[in-house]
Amino acid sequence: MGLRTNFHMRLLKAVTDMQAWSRKLRTENRGIGFVPTMGALHEGHLSLVRRSKDENDFTVVSIFVNPTQFGPNEDFKQYPRDLEGDLNKLSSHKIDAVFVPDSREMYPEGFSTSVHVGKLGEILCGSSRPGHFNGVATVVAKLFNIVMPDRAYFGQKDFQQTAVIRKLARDMNFGTDIIICPTVREADGLAMSSRNSYLNRDERKAAAVLYKALKHGEALIKSQGTSDASVIKNEMEQMLNSEPLATVDYVEIVDVGNPGEVKDIKTPLAICLAVKIGNTRLIDNVIVNY
Ligand code: PAF
Repeated sequence: MGLRTNFHMRLLKAVTDMQAWSRKLRTENRGIGFVPTMGALHEGHLSLVRRSKDENDFTVVSIFVNPTQFGPNEDFKQYPRDLEGDLNKLSSHKIDAVFVPDSREMYPEGFSTSVHVGKLGEILCGSSRPGHFNGVATVVAKLFNIVMPDRAYFGQKDFQQTAVIRKLARDMNFGTDIIICPTVREADGLAMSSRNSYLNRDERKAAAVLYKALKHGEALIKSQGTSDASVIKNEMEQMLNSEPLATVDYVEIVDVGNPGEVKDIKTPLAICLAVKIGNTRLIDNVIVNY
């Protein structure tokens, strides 16, 4: 069942092989941890892998650049792909299985069913990326049915994605625990992302402004007690706009448990932003608890 790579890590390409292996583990009462990815793995992904390995008997990583979550003018074709590098990283982490389906395997001819996440998919990133979160929810639902994990691991960097997937798991009774892990950052605070590889030298330097603005917003709330969300957003936008290579898509302050916009600073909050640096759209957030 499936190929065995020379790193003693199962490489599974067929849905039926992945399901058969997961089913066997489940009948043996083995806990399965799952890290879904689109590949081009970096330290952020590997932190999820380590956490899954700590908490489960077996860890499965999927690598699939999911076409249905990219809009027609987005970067599906250019999205970084490095299967060999990814497999090397995963084998040195002694992962049990990697699921690497192709598009035909995930979306065979005649495929037409999809998950609609509703309003939560239309705010924040959803307003400039219509349909994106339906694509994410559809592929994650499929992956959950294929891998049948006990726990699935996602990075906090994609705040809205984590909210969508938590809701998906709850609304559709998946019975998979959704574990959200802290954002892993470069030395200057830039959140690790496969899309950082699009940045040239100047853009890479400029991209540090995202985290700087988030920390400024956090300080306004925590140290200065600012309680008007519009004041915080304005100051953050000013800071972001002072970077010539940056174009702000949005800065929003939302309730962590119910990500609609908030006017007064009361609950645990997520300060979220999306900013274009040159042609590369980056997202980041910080959670403010007090
Ligand atoms: O975060 C990602 O890499 C993707 O959105 C995911 C969850 C693997 C679904 O394609």
